Amino acid sequence: MKTVIAIDGPAASGKSSVARELAGRLQYAYVNSGAFYRGITWWVLHTHTDPALADEVAAVITRTKLESGYQNHEAYLLLDGADATPNLRDDAVNRSVSAVSRVPAVRECLLAHLHNLAEERDLVMEGRDIGSVVFPHTPYKFYIDASPEVRKQRRQAQGQTDEIALRDRSDSSRPNAPLIIAEDALVIDSTHLTVDGVVGEVIGRLKLQGLPVPAR
Ligand code: CDP
Repeated sequence: MKTVIAIDGPAASGKSSVARELAGRLQYAYVNSGAFYRGITWWVLHTHTDPALADEVAAVITRTKLESGYQNHEAYLLLDGADATPNLRDDAVNRSVSAVSRVPAVRECLLAHLHNLAEERDLVMEGRDIGSVVFPHTPYKFYIDASPEVRKQRRQAQGQTDEIALRDRSDSSRPNAPLIIAEDALVIDSTHLTVDGVVGEVIGRLKLQGLPVPAR
């Protein structure tokens, strides 16, 4: 296994901007696991499967060929050859992604893909359970938080209808791989920080841990 930096946190906490920027600074690959859950959710809706019916969601995923890999330092997922990227932020996906992510067959299947990606490249991976479940043994774990008000404002500023409080409740209360703060994660509150400020804190910690960080 290569070096894995795990970035977890609730909806709209700034994880994606931080993870992408950090991956660039370290010259690592970037993996947005949330985009994979969103991609599967789009596929579930596209195949007219009811996202609330866990057995049907599991069945459709079992029938679908999933392929993951890297393009331009960023991980992608294809579903029977289809790329869900243009639809990842659809309102319908926002509404259903937490329900689909609760289905054990979905998590199992994505877990294998996320593990495979770390066989190939050093990476920064963001999500909900990366430090707690996907890579519990990595020493590099961060949990990015922000106040609920600021997170709501950030999502609205992106022009999206996204009930983040509902998603957070569902993600934190599910039995499988819920959103939790891994015991050994460094928690960073980004409420009053810029992306650069958060990345600076992450890099400071990584250097203290002895990870080589290229000079700018
Ligand atoms: O939009 P936001 O950054 O809040 O979320 P995301 O990272 O795109 O993830 C969308 C949804 O996928 C979350 O609300 C979770 O339900 C699910 N997810 C998950 O269950 N496990 C992960 N490792 C990543 C995302």
